[in-house]
Amino acid sequence: MFFSLLYTLLAGLVLVLPVLLYLRNPYLVQDVRYCLSVLQLALSLNRCKRRNPCYTILDRFLDLVSKHPHKPFLYFEGSCFTYIQADRESNKAAWALRNRVRSGDTVAVFMGNEPQFVWLWLGLSKLGCTAALLNTNIRSKSLVHCFSCCDAKVLLVGADLQGAVVEVLPTLQSLGVQVLVLGVDCAVEGLHSLTGSLSESSDQPVPVDLRSKITLKSPALYIYTSGTTGLPKAAVINYERLWMASFLQLIAGVRSDDIMYVYLPLYHSAAFMMGLCGSIERGIPVVLRRKFSASQFWNDCRKYNVTVIQYIGEVMRYLCNVPKVRKQDRDHKVRLALGNGIRTDTWNEFLQRFGNISICECYGATEGNIGFVNYVGKVGAIGKENFLHKMGNPYALISYDTEKEEPVRDSRGFCVRVPTGETGLLVGQISARSPFSGYSKNKQQTEKKILRDVFVKGDQYFNSGDLLRIDRQGFVFFQDRIGDTFRWKGENVATTEVADHLLMVDCIEEANVYGVKVPGHEGRIGMASVKLKENMDFDCTATYQHVKNHLPSYARPRFIRVQDALDVTGTFKQLKGKLAKEGFDPALIQDPLFYLDDSQGYVPMSRDIFDAIAEGRLRL
Ligand SMILES: *[C@@H]1O[C@H](CO)[C@@H](O)[C@H](O)[C@H]1NC(C)=O
Ligand SMILES: *[C@@H]1O[C@H](CO)[C@@H](O)[C@H](O)[C@H]1NC(C)=O
Repeated sequence: MFFSLLYTLLAGLVLVLPVLLYLRNPYLVQDVRYCLSVLQLALSLNRCKRRNPCYTILDRFLDLVSKHPHKPFLYFEGSCFTYIQADRESNKAAWALRNRVRSGDTVAVFMGNEPQFVWLWLGLSKLGCTAALLNTNIRSKSLVHCFSCCDAKVLLVGADLQGAVVEVLPTLQSLGVQVLVLGVDCAVEGLHSLTGSLSESSDQPVPVDLRSKITLKSPALYIYTSGTTGLPKAAVINYERLWMASFLQLIAGVRSDDIMYVYLPLYHSAAFMMGLCGSIERGIPVVLRRKFSASQFWNDCRKYNVTVIQYIGEVMRYLCNVPKVRKQDRDHKVRLALGNGIRTDTWNEFLQRFGNISICECYGATEGNIGFVNYVGKVGAIGKENFLHKMGNPYALISYDTEKEEPVRDSRGFCVRVPTGETGLLVGQISARSPFSGYSKNKQQTEKKILRDVFVKGDQYFNSGDLLRIDRQGFVFFQDRIGDTFRWKGENVATTEVADHLLMVDCIEEANVYGVKVPGHEGRIGMASVKLKENMDFDCTATYQHVKNHLPSYARPRFIRVQDALDVTGTFKQLKGKLAKEGFDPALIQDPLFYLDDSQGYVPMSRDIFDAIAEGRLRL
């Protein structure tokens, strides 16, 4: 009698307990599932570390080649390459480069999205080399800079990018760089074609001992970020970090029967690390596209049976903006979208139009040591925190003074955590478990991302540069990005780099570049406030010619404001916050304003132009 009562009580408790837990935390199931994936990830990573020689993403690829040689690995413009074909192509690439590089060298890859990009990277990895992935939009001074800051000896150039390299060829030659071009006809002196050697090379494996010195701490890649100031910086991605990023697909719930669509540029971490390497980790096919196309997006998804897509916020909006032609918006197999930066209104619209697709919003910087994943699909949040996460790598939101542009310090000189629900600067503790590898050959910029003496004397934190807010349920919301960078069309724009270019225009004496918000667009569009040289007028033509020739379209200042004097702080730092708030409304700003019209160059800003932008008739 007593025991049966006890059992009933116990059974009751077992039934009631989950309900109690659920009431305290309605996301319990997802939290537990997430924690299990993270544990699985930690165990896998540990296994990769303990293996001798260590186990890299290349080894994973090679295992898959033996496991399912004839499974599709890559689809591209109607062709399909199986794992075994990809392996042979990358062996050819390795042999073609074998006598030009040594194990441990860095080789820069300057190519658009195409299969050869992937073969070359795999080939380089087989030779024990590090690949530096150059942004295909960069030109002239920035191109030379990106190349030299990772000490690369060889530059591999896509057939369509020869022109950009020819511009800087004398500089590259003076640095003793070998320039190898893909494509047959390169009549230019100093460029060598790799195509011949590729077709003649053997497709058998190169000796394994070429990569015997590689450990998980060896640099696998350099990926460029235009962090806070000046020219792009090469973030060092070691093999361990590459594993971590690859595991994101696992955390997001990608399965081994999925098919992944990769159309973002491979030189960015999203497409390369999470898209391509993540798919290798999962062992699933990648559908590669040269460039995003809103009109072809769903056709591709249908044609290749795509089930998982990657996104950035802008892309989701472009997709929602495509006029509805036929009733086939929901005719596709896409079940999961993985990415970041989608705005709440676009998120809702996207789901309503394209059907039941789980959206997994993630947050993390290429070089950062802290990230979040919104694994419950809460609309608007960039992530969710939970206890495991906090234990794994400590982070905090600290109070930040936007006017002084530095964290608030208390009387003892320590930073101050913001109360739950308030906006603060995200910082992640730097430790053996969550290291910060910094930037190649750029001690100063590396140092700038490290905050010291944050909560105790001697501690070190990675400064994300992002202002976030975390609510009571643990949902993380993006608020703003501080400092000298803004984002436009999914690209970071370094304000000082743009300002440097404006200063090369004859009439401009000083320039202050910042991003301004535009209704209906994510991120901020470029604007510059300039001071002209004495007795000179703003030269629309010369300014337009210069920015057009030297800056990628997303970085060109769309608006220019001419001021008599530029505001600076006591320490001569330019003030951007106030200017950014004032924006580009000609009714509010008395200074002369110019607008960059893509077909005409800079023209005086008018009420009509402003209204057209505000009402969404003029898309930027
Ligand atoms: C997509 O799936 C359909 C039906 O399941 C199949 O017939 C077709 O071959 C698949 N397409 C590709 C590119 O695998
Ligand atoms: C939406 O998809 C999820 C899994 O992807 C499924 O669990 C859920 O039932 C679906 N909801 C609807 C309304 O179809």
